[in-house]
Amino acid sequence: MERLQKYMAHAGIASRRKSEELIQDGKVKVNGQVIRELGVKIDPLKDKIEVEGKQLKPEKNVYILLHKPVGYVTTLDDPQGRPIVTDLIKGVKERIYPVGRLDLDTSGLLILTNDGEMTNRLMHPKHEIVKTYVALVKGKPTKVSLQAFASGLELEDGMTAPATVGILGNKGKNTTLKIQIHEGRNRQVRRMCQTLGHPVVKLKRVSLGFLSLDGLTVGKWRFLRRDEIKQLKTY
Ligand code: URA
Repeated sequence: MERLQKYMAHAGIASRRKSEELIQDGKVKVNGQVIRELGVKIDPLKDKIEVEGKQLKPEKNVYILLHKPVGYVTTLDDPQGRPIVTDLIKGVKERIYPVGRLDLDTSGLLILTNDGEMTNRLMHPKHEIVKTYVALVKGKPTKVSLQAFASGLELEDGMTAPATVGILGNKGKNTTLKIQIHEGRNRQVRRMCQTLGHPVVKLKRVSLGFLSLDGLTVGKWRFLRRDEIKQLKTY
């Protein structure tokens, strides 16, 4: 069961707010009856919904994997008018939104979908989906100092869960690290590295669970395959 206005928004009729107006204006019928209240829930598989006399067909679910470039925000309405990740997805008419977020200055793997259930599932901390990042950090952390990633780091919002980290190499005065976390706190990787005294210079998410960027160049996207969607639904 789903709220009528939410269903209308997902079906691509209008924003949720506009859908509420259409309902209040008496322009929406459920099983032949005009509905004017907002709390009504419908069963998309059983109920017949008409908006201004036209019957709605449910929007199909789409699942997209994007290689997000630096300089794009993952929020859908940015008050500062910066580029938004969905600007990169041309030719998809469904209202998709990112699963979780990546910072403006982070690049890498981002899933976008209109499947709210899948979004909730992937975001829920209990699923502990491993996210892998490659971070260029300032300085030369030692193996010993990096042990704090495994034992947990004290951040403003509490201790971090155990994470794994490996040194991939040195670049001048900087070091490239591979970091795996399964939490998704705001700017978590940056804050963890900063806490250790090695601020992040560059950050990229290279994988999320079994999904990786393999071959997808920056700014490009593809639809997830059916087997990938099926596997994501097992999380
Ligand atoms: N951790 C960060 O600090 N930034 C991101 O964008 C993702 C994870």
